[in-house]
Order: sequence, then structure tokens, then C-alpha cells
Amino acid sequence: MTVIAIDGPAASGKSSVSRRVAARLGFACVNSGTLYRAVTREVLRQGADTSSPESIAAVLAGAEIACGIGDGGESFVRVNGDDAGAELSDAQVNSHVSLVAAVPAVRELISHLLRALARERPLVMEGRDIGTEVFPDTPYKFYLDASPEIRQARRDAEGGTDRVAARDRLDSTRKTAPLRTAADAHVVDTSHLTLDGVADAIVEKLRTLGIVPK
Ligand code: DC
Repeated sequence: MTVIAIDGPAASGKSSVSRRVAARLGFACVNSGTLYRAVTREVLRQGADTSSPESIAAVLAGAEIACGIGDGGESFVRVNGDDAGAELSDAQVNSHVSLVAAVPAVRELISHLLRALARERPLVMEGRDIGTEVFPDTPYKFYLDASPEIRQARRDAEGGTDRVAARDRLDSTRKTAPLRTAADAHVVDTSHLTLDGVADAIVEKLRTLGIVPK
């Protein structure tokens, strides 16, 4: 099993960099945040209370969550057969996802699905707890960061409504699997690097660890 773990706070560049690294290595790319977003969107769609772990657990119990790797080599997720598309990053989901992601039952289920994906093929997987909790034994761990101001500016430039500081606070202070830097992660400050520059740094580090681009 080979997993390149890329963790970091919101808008640190994880998704774009992970795609680039995966393409260079010929690995599939898994965005674990979309699974948390898909569950959150279902909780909201059902009108359940996102501050109630019991209500969230009830939604989970009745939902069929399927994820896999699509033809393009990127992960997909469907809840009860629906992939939700652009709704996964709408304002409602942005403002509730950290509450839902803090619920241990949600984390347990999603971590299980993520581990199953890694048994199928080599992956680049991005998230908050991939190197600390989901694959603590992988020797390939990266933590991307950038100043809060730069990260918020990136989101604003995308025209979104995402408040990254609020999500970061919830994601890094929750009890279960909080966002933190694994002791053995390679930290990359992306504040003043291009996406290709960050991908270059990661691919070069991986080369020294024996992972060679295709
Ligand atoms: O990567 P993203 O911003 O799309 O993630 C959305 C939220 O999902 C994030 O604020 C916290 C949660 N998440 C998590 O708790 N653990 C992960 N491995 C990935 C995402």
C-alpha cells in the first residue's frame, strides 16, 4: 500500500497540489474533504441539526455512502446515489462541515472508506488527518501551510463565501483527530510559492524517499 499524505488547513493549496503530484507520479488522487462535505450536505438536505451528534448519526445510519476512483484518476463520492456536484462547496456546506466532521461516528466511517480506497491502488490523499490518523504509518507525509491572510485571500479570489479561520479553529480544536502537523511530516510553506513550485518540492522530496515520477 502506498499513500502520499498531504494535510493542511483550508486553502493551503492541498487540492491543486495533490492533483499535480498525483499526475506526475501516475497515482490516483483522493480529496477526503469531499466525503465530509457530502455527509454534511446530506445532513443539511434532511434538515437535521448539525450541532447534534445524535441527529447526524441518525442521518449516517440511513445513508448509503459510496466512494471510489473515477476514470480520470480522481476520487468521487455519492450519498444515496447523488454526487451533489457544486453544492459540496456552497455556503451552507462551508459553514457546517467542520461541525459535522467533529463527530466521531462520521470520522470513523469516512476513515474506513479512505483506507479501503488505498487497498486498491497507490494514492495521493489530501485532508486534515491523513498522516496523523488515517495512515499514521505512511513514510510519505506532507503538511502544507500558508499565512491565514493569504489563505483567506485565495478563497476570496475564487469568489466563495468560505471563512477559513473559523473552519481552521474548529478543525484544529476538535477532540477527535484534530488538524495538526504529524511529527514526521515535511512542512511546506506555500505562501509565496506557485502550485507547480509546491508540487516540485514534494516530488523532489519523494524522489529521495524512493518514489519516482512516471
Ligand atoms: O479540504 P476541505 O476544505 O474541502 O475540507 C472540508 C472540511 O472537512 C474541513 O473543514 C474539515 C473536514 N475534513 C476533515 O475533518 N478531515 C479530513 N481528512 C478532510 C476534511
